[in-house]
Amino acid sequence: MSPTRDVLDVDRVRELFDLRGSFVAQAGGGYEDDPYPIWRSLRERAPVHEGTVHELTGVDEPLLFHGLPEPDRPHFSAFAHAACDRAYRDGEVFASSPEAVDLDGAPAVTNSMLSMGGERHRRYRALVQPSFVPAKARWWIRNWIERTVHLLIDAFADQGRAELNVDFCAAIPVLTITGAFGIPLERALDVRAAARRPQDVLRILGPIVAERRERPRDDLISVLVEAEVKDADGTPHRLTDTEIHSFALLLLAAGSGTTWKQMGITLAALLQRPHVLAAVREDRALLRPAIEESTRWQPTDPMFSRWVTRDTDFFGVRLPKGAVLHISIGAANRDPARWENPDEYDVHRPPKASLAFGGGPHICLGMHVARAEMLTGIGALLDRLPNLRLDPDAEPPRFIGFYERGATAIPVVFG
Ligand code: HEM
Repeated sequence: MSPTRDVLDVDRVRELFDLRGSFVAQAGGGYEDDPYPIWRSLRERAPVHEGTVHELTGVDEPLLFHGLPEPDRPHFSAFAHAACDRAYRDGEVFASSPEAVDLDGAPAVTNSMLSMGGERHRRYRALVQPSFVPAKARWWIRNWIERTVHLLIDAFADQGRAELNVDFCAAIPVLTITGAFGIPLERALDVRAAARRPQDVLRILGPIVAERRERPRDDLISVLVEAEVKDADGTPHRLTDTEIHSFALLLLAAGSGTTWKQMGITLAALLQRPHVLAAVREDRALLRPAIEESTRWQPTDPMFSRWVTRDTDFFGVRLPKGAVLHISIGAANRDPARWENPDEYDVHRPPKASLAFGGGPHICLGMHVARAEMLTGIGALLDRLPNLRLDPDAEPPRFIGFYERGATAIPVVFG
């Protein structure tokens, strides 16, 4: 057994990260069609439609995701870039949760900044933002990302073949976040296994928070225990355990599944286009635009939702107070009003922000960490695996899933 396998059980990684497994099933993991042609015709017919994105796409089964199922509210979906962008920027009319966050309630993703609005959201976000700015990317890479990436490559480098989606991409984000929490590598997979049971995660995290309050280190939990947030009246207070726990659960939920799938989508897109992969290998400055373009062209989470706070006329549709507006990021990112040949994966496009990381006040807090993980991960594969290509004898990767999209599998050979 290699040294890697002593600390990271790759078979267990495979078991815990399967796009078609139970973890993703309720978000439409079994969806195998290409939704983009339908989204294009919806966008051509009107910028905003009544109904949920999956119903409008012809998926009859009930799916769960942000803003769903909410059976007692009217549902609308925006497909044009201008409409999606406007909803994202207007946090007053389009709130990110149906009710106020209960900071004294149980630790939960719904009690984190993701669900806060206005001034309170600004205060909480400002507290953690400094650990997530571009200038901090080196801190994440040096402390956690690089080590994980090379550990994973060590496990298959001498075998001449690998399945990159699960054996490589899946574990990087979860090990990065658990590393930043100070959770040892041997226990990191327990956190993934317990992801649906917050209490089990907190049993692992609780003692670490207590210890960092006594003896801070160079990690994210230490930043959180030392940070002070100002209440509405200006009184400063340290974050409570509950606040830290809710934030930690948010980071695990928001940051582990997303980057895994987006890195797989980027790799699959490049491997399916050997001339583009060769160009990126030749000129590493192309890797960043290749990643950015994959987030535009095939965002792993193609929809997030907002709750309408007052009756509003919106792109020709009357949205009643209390309705849910689904923002179809996937459709917006291929709007020909903003991008030429939007269905093409083109790494040479002039840079232009897409909505893959959302927009407005709730724009993804972890986007620079996600980019650092993908750049470091794909860069290391290109450095270490000569002649990396899709396995010609295996089924080629396909993109599947509805509200969480990713590659089926990425079988490669090298050497
Ligand atoms: C490619 C990977 C990723 C994608 C595509 C992505 C996408 C998004 C999107 C679309 C939102 C906005 C949600 C909304 O509109 O309601 C969001 C929010 C968020 N993301 Fe990410 N994300 C990624 C990686 C990460 C990572 C690695 C982290 C943490 C380390 C993270 C942490 C967060 C947090 C905390 C929020 C909520 C921010 C707030 O409410 O102010 N994300 N992400």
